[in-house]
Amino acid sequence: MRKTYPCIAFVAPCVFALAACTGSGPQSGGNSSPGESGSTGKGSATAIAIGVGVAQTSNVALLGQEQVTGAKLAEKYFNEKGGINGTPIKLVFQDTGGDEAGAINAFQSLIGKDKVVGIVGPTLSQQAFSANPIADRAKVPVLGPSNTAKGIPQIGEFVARVSAPVSIVAPNAVKAALELDPKIKKVAVFFAQNDAFSKSETEIFQKTVKEQKLDLATVQKFQTTDTDFQTQATAALNLKPDLAIISGLAADGGNLVRQLRELGYKGTIIGGNGLNTSNVLPVCKALCDGVLIAQAYNPEYASSINQAFRKAYQAQSKKEPPQFSAQAFTGVQVFVEALKAIDGQSKVSQKPLAELRVALNQQILKGKYDTPLGEISFTPEGEIVQKDFYVAQIKMDANGTNGKFAFLK
Ligand code: ALA
Repeated sequence: MRKTYPCIAFVAPCVFALAACTGSGPQSGGNSSPGESGSTGKGSATAIAIGVGVAQTSNVALLGQEQVTGAKLAEKYFNEKGGINGTPIKLVFQDTGGDEAGAINAFQSLIGKDKVVGIVGPTLSQQAFSANPIADRAKVPVLGPSNTAKGIPQIGEFVARVSAPVSIVAPNAVKAALELDPKIKKVAVFFAQNDAFSKSETEIFQKTVKEQKLDLATVQKFQTTDTDFQTQATAALNLKPDLAIISGLAADGGNLVRQLRELGYKGTIIGGNGLNTSNVLPVCKALCDGVLIAQAYNPEYASSINQAFRKAYQAQSKKEPPQFSAQAFTGVQVFVEALKAIDGQSKVSQKPLAELRVALNQQILKGKYDTPLGEISFTPEGEIVQKDFYVAQIKMDANGTNGKFAFLK
């Protein structure tokens, strides 16, 4: 039996021709309706613009690329199903890069220039704490697709997330490590001190280590921009830990895994949510083998929407869909389904944009969604309510270049 960790393809070409121009239209005032945003034609169905502000450049694109793929698959899937009761959606992408300034610029463009109804983004919690208040003040709903730090939904009334928080996800990895090796006793923890998510996740990892009556032997700090971890790795390995837990992002985290192994570390390694991408494999190569990572998505989850998502992802990428793609798909899905619910009452294309954004935010929080992540809903504050979580282990092929995430049973 699979172990779960319970907690408490085409629309009319003429329409797409218009939709493809979304974002290039003239700026319109605060009373514009979504039908006007990005419209270049008169009298034809105009796509509803949903913003996607994630990292398409910088090291953070190691995560953001997967989000772009997931969001695009959702755009295609839901447009093939008729969009918003016959009106297609059009995703407008703005690259946040990897920092706060990039996220703020992307959000400002999506809100003011592209006139989106809402935003899926940004990639990092570190970016969300800076960019989300801008959307919140502008009364534009934001769905975090991957922001897992404590405090994200509390940024404001217009902020929710489809990415379960560190407090729910991270402990599962420690429990799985102990099941695989009950002899684990001494733990070395590493975290990126310049990253809000990593700081939040390490708190949970450290708390879990103590709750499990393990010996927290050392806590080592680094920066997400670091490439050399000799000092921290050597200091930790001198204490002879049998579990190393890393909270960082993909490039730095992958390098730390590699350097721990190169220095002779043989014990268990847990990677946090920032390492949850196959883009980490080219960084630590054969030395990634065995790393445990908690998951908020399982490609084998049995539901028709997940089957459709998985099939579409596999057809395109020739591998299993990763968590960040599934979450981005889910973010777009929540917008689509909330828009459909509103449209059922009064046509969204006729509503003034400012009014629609507010109604959309309220509707998002009211709904229940059957997504690739499973059935989800939101607390009144915008926190995701999700049922099942998993743990996977990286299994590298003998050649040390290709690998996969094997889900623990
Ligand atoms: N989960 C990571 C974050 O929140 C990507 O920044």
